[in-house]
Amino acid sequence: MAGSYPGRPLAGRGPAWKAGGMVTAPFLVREATESDLPALARLGARLARMHHRFDPRRFFVVPGMEKGYAWWLGKERKNRKAVVLAAVKPGRGAKETVVGYAYGRIEPRDWNSLRERCGVGIDLMVEPRARRAGVGTALVEALGTALARRGAPRVVIQVASGNPDAQAVFARLGFRPTMVEMTRELSASGYRRGARRPRTRAAPPRPPPGAGRASR
Ligand SMILES: CC(C)(COP(=O)(O)OP(=O)(O)OC[C@H]1O[C@@H](n2cnc3c(N)ncnc32)[C@H](O)[C@@H]1OP(=O)(O)O)[C@@H](O)C(=O)NCCC(=O)NCCS
Repeated sequence: MAGSYPGRPLAGRGPAWKAGGMVTAPFLVREATESDLPALARLGARLARMHHRFDPRRFFVVPGMEKGYAWWLGKERKNRKAVVLAAVKPGRGAKETVVGYAYGRIEPRDWNSLRERCGVGIDLMVEPRARRAGVGTALVEALGTALARRGAPRVVIQVASGNPDAQAVFARLGFRPTMVEMTRELSASGYRRGARRPRTRAAPPRPPPGAGRASR
């Protein structure tokens, strides 16, 4: 790998900083290896399911997403424009346990969103038991460093509006809000101009027994 990113205190944190939560061992952020892929895929699928829970109509999930994630991240790992990082903590012997991952890639200039060529952060996920211990910060910093090495002048991320915790984490890490995505459902019969709310198909009220017969 081009460089490793030890899970040491980052800029601004003094030597008194200690890993909190349940992660007491030091961790290391490094490029993901082939053998990390099953763990990364489990985290990726969990991230997808989390988004689906935020808004099931906007964020799809399919059965067996782990397999797709393993395939895609394995492919991206070999793409020189992409960065796939794993945060690991030492286990018994030489065995390491994956506690988080980050994935991003260089995207070209996008005229539709007026976004210059830049790094795009796509996935960031830390095992729940390893959170609040600096792992997410180390992954974001390492992703930024790796994307900058690939020539990115900045990194852009998208965060679900239903995920204020992650928004707070990114804000602390120096990300500024730049775009708000809004979604509205359309029905097959079309889009009613000026409608304030999506039309929902409520079940018609049940007529009282015998009501239809009496009017004939
Ligand atoms: C978001 C996430 C990656 C953060 O990982 P983490 O390892 O807990 O982050 P860190 O420990 O490095 O915390 C970074 C900073 O954010 C703060 N922070 C962490 N979780 C927070 C939360 N839920 N609410 C508010 N602040 C939070 C920390 O206190 C820390 O601030 P500090 O440097 O002033 O102490 C992790 O919570 C996660 O995996 N969430 C689910 C997946 C997700 O939302 N991913 C982002 C989708 S784009």
